[in-house]
Amino acid sequence: MSAMQVTVDAERLGQELAHLATYSDCKPPGVTRVLFTECDRRARGYLRRLCSDAGLKVREDAIGNLFARWPGTHPELGAVGSGSHIDAIPHAGRYDGTVGVLGALEAMRALRSAGFQPRRSIELLMFTSEEPTRFGVGCVGSRSLCGSLSADDLCRLRDADDHWFDHVRREAGCHGELSSVRLPDGYYSAFVELHIEQGPRLEAAGVPIGVVTAIAAPAALRVVIDGRGGHAGGVLMPDRRDALCTAAEAILAVEAAARGSGSPDTVATTGGCRVYPNAVNSIPSRVVLEIDIRDVNRESRDRAVAAIRSAVAAIAQRRNCTAVVEILHSDPPAAMAPAVVAAIESACRMLQLNCQRMVSRAYHDSLFMAQRFPTGMIFIPCRRGVSHHPDEFAEPEAIRRGVEVLAQTLAELAT
Ligand code: GLV
Ligand code: MN
Ligand code: MN
Repeated sequence: MSAMQVTVDAERLGQELAHLATYSDCKPPGVTRVLFTECDRRARGYLRRLCSDAGLKVREDAIGNLFARWPGTHPELGAVGSGSHIDAIPHAGRYDGTVGVLGALEAMRALRSAGFQPRRSIELLMFTSEEPTRFGVGCVGSRSLCGSLSADDLCRLRDADDHWFDHVRREAGCHGELSSVRLPDGYYSAFVELHIEQGPRLEAAGVPIGVVTAIAAPAALRVVIDGRGGHAGGVLMPDRRDALCTAAEAILAVEAAARGSGSPDTVATTGGCRVYPNAVNSIPSRVVLEIDIRDVNRESRDRAVAAIRSAVAAIAQRRNCTAVVEILHSDPPAAMAPAVVAAIESACRMLQLNCQRMVSRAYHDSLFMAQRFPTGMIFIPCRRGVSHHPDEFAEPEAIRRGVEVLAQTLAELAT
């Protein structure tokens, strides 16, 4: 097909991104929006209103995944989906995920204004909890839609304050059977996610569009280290079983496992550390670590996980503490569908935009969508590659180009 003459309203989209960023639990320019908190619920309400105002048919499933549909002339065919997430880790920026949600909405509005009538329905999808902040596991919405998280798995999720997922989602107004969330086969004929790169390569290369070919394999561990608490003045050093000192060595072992993995792509991060009782004059009795490990290659990732497990066990034993390692998730990498990659590249050619193929080191809901539906991702540059940080920034022009490519891709896939 030839290029659609779509006009993306980058100013409106910028205003919507800015407004969405006001639903936050931290000081601007940071954004904190954790699943089903008051500000997340209000942000969801804002998105619902925007979708209804755009004339889309909105529905939500039992865990708050939000769907907004533009019916095609052949609504019986699998739809073309596009979207991302609006939850944000503590002290994040305003672009991670949101560009893919509001960008998909803008792409649909732009296509409609251009007089396009899709044959297949086009559907915006906002996934529940891409970020793992609250329940320790990321991509809760997409995992459930694709069947890799069952109703029973969801019922076992509990946050750090001992709130169960099932209770929290009901409090947030999400009803219905958890078992109803999985999408039927063929629900989507294709899925496309627009996202900031969260790395520096596009900016450095001066290329406006990245076409993702694969998503790296993520894993996360929770390690509970138990020692013996006591008075910081009263217990002499030879008698100590300090859980935090044990954790300190374990954290360095995590770093060493990634650095020494032999694969340049292995990364490992201890991003969470809770200390009990967390008082200056009390010897730490328990520490809970949360560790994130990734590699493009699953075997290298698994070797790093195994190295971390054995190092942590040895350190705990030497320090007379116990360490229990729980695998929170351990996912395979995902390949993007050649047909969707081709549609994105063809959209770039039609719009005369340079693009380059790349691997996504960050994970996305597309990691799971790819298990069930032909999936692809469009990346746009973000300043210095910064993400998960208040300094995250994407140029309005970069966003506009990304939305144009998305609109063109959706048009091709929905025709
Ligand atoms: C997603 O936010 C990730 O951690 O890659
Ligand atoms: Mn993120
Ligand atoms: Mn994201």
